[in-house]
Amino acid sequence: MISGKITKAINDQINKEIYSAYLYIGMAAYAASMALGGISNWFRAQAKEELGHAEKFMNYLSEQGGELVLKAIAAPDQKFTSVAGLFDKTLDHEKEVTASIHNLVTLAKKEADYATEIFLQWFVTEQIEEEASVSDIIQKLEIGGKGGNAILVLDKALALRK
Ligand code: FEO
Repeated sequence: MISGKITKAINDQINKEIYSAYLYIGMAAYAASMALGGISNWFRAQAKEELGHAEKFMNYLSEQGGELVLKAIAAPDQKFTSVAGLFDKTLDHEKEVTASIHNLVTLAKKEADYATEIFLQWFVTEQIEEEASVSDIIQKLEIGGKGGNAILVLDKALALRK
């Protein structure tokens, strides 16, 4: 059984994970509107991954007897002006998610909730990978000059993400 505080924090995190999916669906649509199917594919895969994160939290809540409280999902920003901007925004967003996961770990430690602390380790590791993969894309775009050819090469590469 987990505490009310942890239950609330996990419910908030579920909302953030679903919001993340929502944000990336909007980015996928923007890329698709520019005929960048590969980049759109990457964001759609990213959105699915976020729903998977939400599901992991929901399953944990259920296993621990915590009540799932679904709240409204905020409308994400959909005013995008460049492909490079999509990835900059993604990195900023993932940094916020990392901070949120770290806050959860801090809370679990404070509550002496060892089970939740262990459960959260997967997310701590996942966030390292999430930030690294987006940073890698940003770096590649910078090397390529963020222009037409660099974006087309990236589009081809990101089409391969399953
Ligand atoms: Fe669920 Fe991209 O962090």
